[in-house]
Amino acid sequence: MNEQKEGLPQIEGYPSVLRFKTYTIIDRNGPLQLVPISLDAGQIARSIQWELDSEVAKYYSMSPFDSVPAIIEKNYLQAIHDKDEARFEIVHSDFGPVGHVFLSRVNPFQKNALVGIMVGEKSVWRKGIGKQAVDVLLAGVKKFGMKTIEAKIHIDNEPSIRLFRTYPVTTWRQKYIREYVCFRIPLSHWNPPESMELDFIS
Ligand SMILES: CC(C)(COP(=O)(O)OP(=O)(O)OC[C@H]1O[C@@H](n2cnc3c(N)ncnc32)[C@H](O)[C@@H]1OP(=O)(O)O)[C@@H](O)C(=O)NCCC(=O)NCCS
Repeated sequence: MNEQKEGLPQIEGYPSVLRFKTYTIIDRNGPLQLVPISLDAGQIARSIQWELDSEVAKYYSMSPFDSVPAIIEKNYLQAIHDKDEARFEIVHSDFGPVGHVFLSRVNPFQKNALVGIMVGEKSVWRKGIGKQAVDVLLAGVKKFGMKTIEAKIHIDNEPSIRLFRTYPVTTWRQKYIREYVCFRIPLSHWNPPESMELDFIS
């Protein structure tokens, strides 16, 4: 079965829905680029700086070990190589690099994944950047055939809950993880903003 999308080169070694993780994704009519994370020293240093900020990490970090720089760096390096994860630095045309948006647990057969977002530069919170970054990511993965995206959010994380409620979500609570709410976004029920025109640059 040939799953190549028109105009997009094939990249060997990744399942088709994950090939998008190797491209810089640009919204030609918007201020954001999603740049794949790499061994770039600046990207690594920013990632550590953002995740060490207790306000950013409050609902973002899943374990106390995530506040140890060496563990943050290890998780970062693992995300570059993992075949079920796709992580991008969010680069804004006015503000520069401001955070990360990513998919984890990508299932290329069921074509679903978990989405995560961290706007690490607190000075740019509440400017619509988190929402725009998730829009670009979802539009990108939809082009690559992804069907459903889920978000798992701490029930006290109001900014994140408000952000994901802007999508056509169904909601449920996991039986054993009571402090989290789960949102499911069927991408067939969501279309990117009409002004959005994506470029994929390898
Ligand atoms: C959650 C987060 C990504 C939001 O990023 P952002 O760029 O500030 O969000 P936006 O400006 O795009 O706003 C998105 C929605 O959240 C709302 N929002 C943002 N910050 C808010 C706050 N402090 N209180 C209440 N609502 C807030 C906005 O009003 C908007 O909702 P609306 O469209 O209904 O008005 C950012 O706060 C963050 O990175 N937090 C730390 C990491 C984290 O918790 N990540 C999520 C893990 S699931």
